[in-house]
Amino acid sequence: NRTLYFSRHGESEYNVLGKVGGDADLSSRGRQYADCLAEYVNSTLGSIPGFKLWTSCLKRTIQTAKNIKAPQEHMEALNELDTGVCDGLTYEEIAERYPIEFAARDDDKFHYRYPEGESYLDLLLRVQPVLDRLKVEDNVMVIAHQAVLRCLLAALLNKDEKELPYIHTPLHTVMQLSFNRAGGGCHLELIPLSI
Ligand code: F6P
Repeated sequence: NRTLYFSRHGESEYNVLGKVGGDADLSSRGRQYADCLAEYVNSTLGSIPGFKLWTSCLKRTIQTAKNIKAPQEHMEALNELDTGVCDGLTYEEIAERYPIEFAARDDDKFHYRYPEGESYLDLLLRVQPVLDRLKVEDNVMVIAHQAVLRCLLAALLNKDEKELPYIHTPLHTVMQLSFNRAGGGCHLELIPLSI
């Protein structure tokens, strides 16, 4: 069997405020998650030969990974969906300032591209090199972002473009993906860490 691990970063200051995008620091709860995750990984996974960690280049994933003892790689390709002109706004503010855009996104979330930003389709193409590597890797933990993890999970679990932008990716939870080499099956387990 082959196992991959995914986690969103711990709660960020922007998550607390309900703002999208940005490059915020972790909140105090987010820092607690970083401590719990490090304890979990260092005690259970850290001893697996070849275990490694990939994060985005944004502060919140790097801060989440900080105390994990494993080789780390930071990748721009794993940065969160670029929300363009909506960066730093709450969903309420987007609905108020850009009502037509807001409705268009609701109508076709996969193809909708934020003005001066990205769509889920753009993001899926951006993470393709990471996916190519993940298809042959074992014991990698990816610490990234909601939209990015939806793209990775959809590709690995064969979810279609309608489902992809709505895949449940809770905060403060390790998503463990086990692939059965023989049958080609894949099993997703959610491991919430209590903080
Ligand atoms: O709210 C956190 C966040 O990572 C935002 O930065 C990002 O725009 C959003 O999630 C993606 O989720 P959705 O596509 O559901 O808006």
